Amino acid sequence: MPPATLPPGYALIALDEAGSTNDEAKARAEAGAPEGTVVWARQQRAGRGRRGRSWVSPPGNLYFSAVLRPVCEARNVAQLSFVAALAVLDLVDGPLPGRARGKWPNDVLMDGGKVAGVLLESALGPGGRVDWVVLGIGVNLASHPGLEGPIPSTSLVDAGAPTLAPEDALPSVLAALDRRRREWETQGFAAVRSAWLARVHGLGGPVTVTNGERRLTGVFEGLDEEGALVLARPGTAPLSISAGDVIFGDRADAEAGNAARG
Ligand code: BTN
Repeated sequence: MPPATLPPGYALIALDEAGSTNDEAKARAEAGAPEGTVVWARQQRAGRGRRGRSWVSPPGNLYFSAVLRPVCEARNVAQLSFVAALAVLDLVDGPLPGRARGKWPNDVLMDGGKVAGVLLESALGPGGRVDWVVLGIGVNLASHPGLEGPIPSTSLVDAGAPTLAPEDALPSVLAALDRRRREWETQGFAAVRSAWLARVHGLGGPVTVTNGERRLTGVFEGLDEEGALVLARPGTAPLSISAGDVIFGDRADAEAGNAARG
């Protein structure tokens, strides 16, 4: 049963099953689908996470990808993943107020377990402007792949929330995405950044950021203007890191190589 109504400006493509809703949305964006096209699937056969990881996608959770055509420069496009993470935090705050936290760059944690993730993909048009953005969002509403590994996954139900059906979660998260996007467009990234920093896990504490073989340890000081993580290290200027995985505190060795889970 498709959701009754989406907020104005969105057009729904509802699928019983998809490989990846991001792939479906990208194909439609390339073919000219307008801003606000939303591909939603009950389940995915080949859900994808960041860095080529898989996103386990059985029925009962939320999987969708929205085509956006923001007027913005390429270097600012990653800011939209923080807009999306805030929208997911807003969604999750409904049943479980104040419990969820962000994790750089765009995960959402509940009681320390990963409950949602955002996968942003984009393409440039003439003059280096952004042509399209596909914002893929997965939220573990009812189930999650398991608790193995040092960064466990969780679901809203496991965290104690009443069951939230995907068809009810979808309009709520899209309405939140609209609100957060308007803040970004009218007040700029500074407003988004401070809202996100107010709800992020581990700010001011020790972290290790891994990227392949590269590992950098320091204090998580904040975000720069483009959404890169600012890492403070003794005796050197703060470093902006634009890609990687964050490991909190002294868990770096235990968590090295940990894969993202749905
Ligand atoms: C991550 O945490 O690494 C990002 C996970 C993003 C998963 C969503 S589910 C809907 C959309 N389709 C995909 O294949 N991936 C995203």
